Amino acid sequence: MNPFFDNAPDHRKNGSYRWEQPAGRDDVIGMGTADLDYCCPECVKEACLAIAQENAYNYRKKPDSYFQIVTDWYRRKYGLLAEKEWLSNVPSTIGAIRIALSALTRPGDAVIMQSPFFGPLPRAVESAGCRLVENPMIRQDGVYALDFADFEQKLRDEKPSVFLLVNPHNPTGRVFSQKELDRLVALCEQYDVKIISDEVHGLIIYPGKKHIPVLAVSPAARRLSVQVMSMSKGFNLMSLPHAIVAVADPVLRAAWNDEVIPYSFGYATNPFSMAAAVKVMDGSADQWLSDLTDYLKENRDLAVSFLQNEVPGMRATVPEGSFLLWIDCSELGLENPAEFLLEKAGVSVNDGAEFGNAYGQFIRMNFALTRQNLQTALDRIKKAVAAR
Ligand SMILES: Cc1ncc(COP(=O)(O)O)c(C=O)c1O
Repeated sequence: MNPFFDNAPDHRKNGSYRWEQPAGRDDVIGMGTADLDYCCPECVKEACLAIAQENAYNYRKKPDSYFQIVTDWYRRKYGLLAEKEWLSNVPSTIGAIRIALSALTRPGDAVIMQSPFFGPLPRAVESAGCRLVENPMIRQDGVYALDFADFEQKLRDEKPSVFLLVNPHNPTGRVFSQKELDRLVALCEQYDVKIISDEVHGLIIYPGKKHIPVLAVSPAARRLSVQVMSMSKGFNLMSLPHAIVAVADPVLRAAWNDEVIPYSFGYATNPFSMAAAVKVMDGSADQWLSDLTDYLKENRDLAVSFLQNEVPGMRATVPEGSFLLWIDCSELGLENPAEFLLEKAGVSVNDGAEFGNAYGQFIRMNFALTRQNLQTALDRIKKAVAAR
């Protein structure tokens, strides 16, 4: 328990996607969309109040202190010596990935990514005029592994120009190891494939695992990669969007700049987004993030063991990072598990079909709730499943 995270605003009344109530109901517990129920660290409020106090929103340059704090963050957290020139920002990580796809592909190119996948990413691939090539992950005893043989065969046969890596992986919660990343990078180098690395889930990592940003993997990875990260998932800054894009290789960076500069994002960076991002990166919220990770680990363990013991037909994969449970419901014999849970348990989750055609019997469940709401949701699920 932790009083800060045990008390959250009532998101049914603030326009939250996750807590939106179906017509005629006000009791549905939101466990879909990947944001947090908790208030942000106090330093975010202070940073935003200082901006509001001035109440002037002219075009502003990012100060040297911005680049100092971001590069210090990379060094402090990952031992990565990032340079100011590598960095730019876009007010959306999906937008950044879509722009990177335009920079690194031509219409008709193939783009490979692991499945199951976060739905907006294949949509970004298709809207760039590219063809999606799936590299399904292998599931054994509830644990997901990369299928390197299939990956290599598809690099050889389909000749993708880009590998869209999601690490930590959504929805399985895998945090890829140095060994796995080395192998992926080596294959991409061998087959001349560039990497776009979506690392938005990199902040919440459970004990025993470590997030390795793609640019910290190896010199080869730095030559091949566009890295996209954000403070959003770790600090609940979803509606203060500020994706940080880092490109170490000068040739790749020139291609990225040709695409991104015409959008003029750097000319009018939202000052609230920037102030919040910088404040949580400068060390002021390190303890908060550590406390959040402890709380989420307890939520994760509670949900996994509850489902295992009380609802054995729902098989959860234990995530190594982030706050999402990927659950196989096929043993329950339901036509649509997500619809069933909404109707019978008053719990809204993501339908697995959003993550690929093969996953209609899966659900994705967000457990970044107060402990009390989480327990209520689990109790309701147990009751609804028992009565089906
Ligand atoms: C893998 C992945 N990438 C990108 C995003 C978008 O993140 P944001 O809205 O914080 O930019 C999400 C959000 O759930 C995600 O899961």
